[in-house]
Amino acid sequence: MEKFTLVTGGTGYIGSHTVVALMEAGYQVVIVDNLENSSDKVLSRIESITGTLPVFIRADLRETTTITKIFEEYPISSVLHFAGLKAVGESVENPAKYYDNNIGSTLSLINAMKSSIVSTLVFSSSATVYSPSKEPPFDEEATRGPTNPYGMSKYFIEQILTDVALADENWSIGLLRYFNPIGAHPTGLIGEMPTGIPNNLVPYIMQVAVEKLEKLYIFGDDYETPDGSCIRDYVHVVDLARGHLAALRFLEGVNGTHVWNLGTGKGSSVLELVKAVEEAIGKPIPREVVGRREGDIPVVFADVEKASNELTWRAENTLTRMCLDHWNWQRQNPDGYQ
Ligand code: NAD
Ligand code: WQD
Repeated sequence: MEKFTLVTGGTGYIGSHTVVALMEAGYQVVIVDNLENSSDKVLSRIESITGTLPVFIRADLRETTTITKIFEEYPISSVLHFAGLKAVGESVENPAKYYDNNIGSTLSLINAMKSSIVSTLVFSSSATVYSPSKEPPFDEEATRGPTNPYGMSKYFIEQILTDVALADENWSIGLLRYFNPIGAHPTGLIGEMPTGIPNNLVPYIMQVAVEKLEKLYIFGDDYETPDGSCIRDYVHVVDLARGHLAALRFLEGVNGTHVWNLGTGKGSSVLELVKAVEEAIGKPIPREVVGRREGDIPVVFADVEKASNELTWRAENTLTRMCLDHWNWQRQNPDGYQ
């Protein structure tokens, strides 16, 4: 019987791109998502790209009985766990919601996996677990110290999963710390669907580009960086998707917990990013420099040697390509999947 990979949060931004990569590599996929921050319209888009409609079950991961039934129904051999809430600002305003959803979902998933004897899991962690006191680049051993409840939820989940694998040597767990995912599938059929006004830089710029928003506010140009604006490690979502496949293959052969940064290893400033978008779309982005955003760290980029050595994975797409693909998606779908 064919084995399945369960993808939690598989209708979301990074999950949907990874579902495509999995299906193209011959994996059978079951998606579970409660559609809190995504649309089921992504499913037919995935079908357009891959030729196959993935199995989709609408459910909240915290409903352990429902999740256990999914494991009983499908011969699942591994899990990619993307489901979670990710808005940093909202997590500061409503920390309990974030701890309940992100940690509650993970505990429920672990319990369902334990009762079904499935023990291979890849978890979506984040560069936000690193302490801002460290100088970049951040390698996987860098001190951790998240500064908001969202980041703390990732930090706690990493610890929970590490303890689970310590207690039972059958578990194979991958913790993937993404840096700043941007871009979209080159077909423009799937991409990020922010609800309301975007918090993140690239979705915001793209809405300025389609004239849904008037101008970009650049949060500070007085940082100690070459052009004064903050530096981040932007990584193409399709490269991230490939990284999940590489991690899954690695975990098929080993036990224990393994952690990898997924980034490009290169930093780009806000001003460089704006320039790359302008080149991609062929018109200027109206902008205004305003004060710094609270909590922003001047420079963040990854040390990517561990993923390169152990997973033979490296990000391949340039910043220009990321901007072109993100623009292609935004232009074709100005209202997301609506
Ligand atoms: P997303 O919001 O597009 O996808 C997450 C999906 O999880 C959504 O489809 C949502 O409906 C679903 N979900 C949330 N809670 C659920 C629950 N209790 N039960 C079932 N489904 C639930 O986000 P994304 O950008 O694709 O991020 C995926 C993962 O990667 C998240 O865990 C996020 O924290 C992590 N991550 C994202 C970024 C980023 O910048 N996008 C960076 C680092 C880490
Ligand atoms: C990038 C740069 C802003 C918006 C966040 C989360 C992190 C991770 C990735 C999940 C910063 C500047 C932004 C705008 C701006 N997510 N900016 N004007 O903050 O690096 O990371 O997403 O794990 O946890 O915190 O990304 O895209 O919000 O900001 O000038 O309107 O763009 O100041 O320097 P960030 P971002």
